[in-house]
Amino acid sequence: MTAHNWTTDSIQDLSGKTAIVTGANSGIGLETAKALAGKGALVILPVRSAEKGKQANNEITGEFPNAKIEILELDLSSLASIKSFVEAYSEKHTSLDILINNAGVMIPPYGKTEDGFELQFGINHLGHFSLTGLLLPMLLKSDSGRIVTVSSVAHRNGKINFDDLTWDQRGYKAGRAYGDSKIANLYFTSELARMLEDTQVTVAAAHPGWTRTNLQKHSKFWSSLNPIFSQEPPMGALPTLRAATDENINNDDYYGPGGFLEIKGYPIKVNSNPLSKDKQIAKKLWDVSEKLTGIKYNLE
Ligand SMILES: NC(=O)c1ccc[n+]([C@@H]2O[C@H](COP(=O)([O-])OP(=O)(O)OC[C@H]3O[C@@H](n4cnc5c(N)ncnc54)[C@H](OP(=O)(O)O)[C@@H]3O)[C@@H](O)[C@H]2O)c1
Repeated sequence: MTAHNWTTDSIQDLSGKTAIVTGANSGIGLETAKALAGKGALVILPVRSAEKGKQANNEITGEFPNAKIEILELDLSSLASIKSFVEAYSEKHTSLDILINNAGVMIPPYGKTEDGFELQFGINHLGHFSLTGLLLPMLLKSDSGRIVTVSSVAHRNGKINFDDLTWDQRGYKAGRAYGDSKIANLYFTSELARMLEDTQVTVAAAHPGWTRTNLQKHSKFWSSLNPIFSQEPPMGALPTLRAATDENINNDDYYGPGGFLEIKGYPIKVNSNPLSKDKQIAKKLWDVSEKLTGIKYNLE
């Protein structure tokens, strides 16, 4: 480590701030939630079961006994669950400072969400699109709101086919569908950054390189390579944490590990591929996402 490396020591005191971290019961999300709570933020853990929430809470308070944690249920594969989560959050809170769209699934067997979307596109992109849209009024009430969405180097395999978003008309290619969902995370970030340009909310993206988590559970191949190539979750969480807390960030910045091929290392500003920067595709995806989810963003 050099004096220039960004670590959790670089995070300012976050007392008085409230953060929501999706997928906070496992892997990168758990480490992200832990670090934010360790710096004094009140952290909401949106989880799929009370048991998972309890385990995550125990792990965080085991390391930071004074951590302020709230557990709420959220299943990003259900629009009804997303709406219930936002309602439950809004009953207790009037604003939100940091939203981290981290939850995700990678190359599961073909399946659909409750609302009929392909699982990876549905959870990784449309779920977070809906959640962010519903929470936006809360974020606009913060004096310095931040929205971070976790993408992947795998965005480079993405090329969204708008004629068959559900993969009903093609043979399902799980890796390609994962890439589509991760390039969608970047289109979403850029379009939202443009939309919120004149507000006090900053929008950014991050990726964790290759980090040893439950994400690889659907692939024996990727799991077997984990011990050789991957980094541990506390390192994998650093790009997200930097995107969420660095005060010198610009709208639409993208952070990832600074090492060879962005696989490992301390977080630096990185570049996504040219296709991910196509504004027309970003706008088209935005319009399609609004139509599919019925969620309209409201800047009032
Ligand atoms: N690990 C890597 O090398 C890597 C590389 C690039 C990008 N990423 C991205 O990093 C993010 C975090 O992944 P991870 O590596 O930490 O994997 P992980 O350990 O599998 O964590 C994924 C989290 O997402 C949650 N989740 C999945 N489906 C959900 C749903 N329908 N509703 C609500 N929550 C749901 C999981 O909850 P359950 O425990 O209930 O399943 C879990 O908490 C993902 O967006 C992933 O694409 C990871």
